[in-house]
Amino acid sequence: MLLIANWKMNMTRNAITSYLDALSGEDRWAVWRDRGIRFFLAPPYPYLEFLGDQLRSRNLPIGILAQNMCAFEKGAYTGEVSAAMLKDLGVDGVLLGHSERRQYFGETDSAVAEKTSRALSLGLLPVVCFGETWEEREAGSCSEVWTRQVGPVWERVVKARSEGIGIPVYWAYEPVWAIGTGRTAVLDDIREVSRHLRKDFGEEVASGLLYGGSVNDDSVSGLCEKGTVHGFLVGTAFLEPKCVLRIFDRLFGSR
Ligand code: PGA
Repeated sequence: MLLIANWKMNMTRNAITSYLDALSGEDRWAVWRDRGIRFFLAPPYPYLEFLGDQLRSRNLPIGILAQNMCAFEKGAYTGEVSAAMLKDLGVDGVLLGHSERRQYFGETDSAVAEKTSRALSLGLLPVVCFGETWEEREAGSCSEVWTRQVGPVWERVVKARSEGIGIPVYWAYEPVWAIGTGRTAVLDDIREVSRHLRKDFGEEVASGLLYGGSVNDDSVSGLCEKGTVHGFLVGTAFLEPKCVLRIFDRLFGSR
């Protein structure tokens, strides 16, 4: 089980310090890690290194993901950050193809595929986001959208596997209409995505399926099903450390 806090374009060094102060009050992080529960924070680029230092000095077993990276290796790409730079900062992995990147920054399916391939070749864990808009859902074209977004990325993963790269890839189903809106999908929707991924791409993709979109402490338990949902990508609710602790307690509280 994997949980990710996508901080998006939020937080400052002071806010990060208070956030980690609040998480440090919980003494079960190591217990949860030993049970195979992995928690990642995804801060904006400027805080990746600061966050790493802070987590290490507090001995918190929490990983770090970047929110994006450049598809190109290096060179004259003003404003971009490479996979090698993320690796150099000790980052564990990277969110790729988030709908906000697709919507506001024109990120294409083939760019997401390219980035995934580069992340894998440098040993970064890719978390690939996909999901339909409300209009696509209304038009009954969800499954086409999922296949169109996941397909090119999966081809690159297959190629990486043939080259002996075994790093897992996670696939975050994030319906655009559920992101930041307070509307979540229901478990049946996620089951349908899982079935579709299994049919089109096989077990490996289905077994890396995460869900994201307005997950909070009220909705999380109802979205959980062993064998279907392998974790959550959380934005708004995980800006609040108390909510992180409530969700962890709700999901993994029993000792
Ligand atoms: P949300 O964001 O939890 O605020 O809906 C999720 C995401 O965009 O990853």
